[in-house]
Amino acid sequence: MKTFLSGIQPSGLLHLGNYFGAIRQHVQSTAEPGEHFYFIADYHALTTVKDAQRLRELVRETAITYLACGLDPEKAVLFRQSDVPEVTEISWLLSTVSGMGLLERAHSYKDKLANGIKPSVGLFTYPILMAADILAYDSDIVPVGKDQVQHVEMTQDMAGYFNSAYGSEVFRRPEMRLQKSETMQKVPGIDGQKMSKSYGNDLWIFEEGKALKKRVGKIVTDSRPPQEAKDPKELFVFDLLALFLTSEELQEWQDKVAQGGEEAPGYGHLKMRLKDAMEEYFAPARERRKELLANPKMVDDILAAGAAKARARAQSVRDRALQACGLR
Ligand code: ADP
Ligand code: TRP
Repeated sequence: MKTFLSGIQPSGLLHLGNYFGAIRQHVQSTAEPGEHFYFIADYHALTTVKDAQRLRELVRETAITYLACGLDPEKAVLFRQSDVPEVTEISWLLSTVSGMGLLERAHSYKDKLANGIKPSVGLFTYPILMAADILAYDSDIVPVGKDQVQHVEMTQDMAGYFNSAYGSEVFRRPEMRLQKSETMQKVPGIDGQKMSKSYGNDLWIFEEGKALKKRVGKIVTDSRPPQEAKDPKELFVFDLLALFLTSEELQEWQDKVAQGGEEAPGYGHLKMRLKDAMEEYFAPARERRKELLANPKMVDDILAAGAAKARARAQSVRDRALQACGLR
């Protein structure tokens, strides 16, 4: 039986990029036969969130988001990363077989440096903790977004280093499963750059009503009038609409924009279509979120049950690793 595992950091409210690039894939994978582990990477979030109360709230919000978006706790083990402290032990073991060079090559680390972030040691060793997350559950398949590919490759390397150092198959080599749809791999934000919490250009999946209207209204456009014919490929609002509309409807809007003239929709019109489509798409999940917010005990119970199952698995892998390297 295959084990699926993935996680997401509770570093902010989840946006369209997080949903279409990660969460949707996680939830869909649970329909496949196998064991499914999904977790909230709160140890990882400490590299950016430095406010205890906010972190607690975000962990809860992320758990609720998973559940509201359809993750069934009967089919998947949903848990908090820090409820399984064994991963930090495994992380130490992996750090002793991983070269500095491997970590220095990490794109996400280099990007953060290039953006002027003063790195902590934790940010540098982030991929080791992520490898521990994956290896601790004998994961076979790791569904991830494009930007996490290198981290999974590093995990494969670390498993290999450890196994060859101790001459046994302690860690199982995981394979990744990448989001295939290009539309979903790189969802643009309201400024046309990649949508990201850290760029302040995101659309929260549960935004609605006036607030959503206001946010969608901020999608960057130019001052050309609706009548002027335009190349739809130049308008990233279509990349957002493509997430929700049928291909027929999308094509109709694009044709009208390409033709221009009196029939052509203006930018405001396209933005309103996006608002309505997004609101409608997430309506059932928004309702479930409200129910879950009103029922904190249920969420706590799901996370506690998940932690117990996840921890039992990680303990046996940890014991195997300690045994192999002479600490037992
Ligand atoms: P953020 O950039 O907002 O901090 P994260 O780095 O926490 O997002 O990403 C969490 C998950 O969401 C990752 O698996 C990543 O691949 C996915 N993801 C983030 N932004 C996007 C995006 N704009 N398009 C597609 N997937 C995204
Ligand atoms: N690094 C991932 C992200 O930023 C979150 C994560 C932590 C993760 N540990 C993981 C994803 C293990 C998959 C497997 O989205």
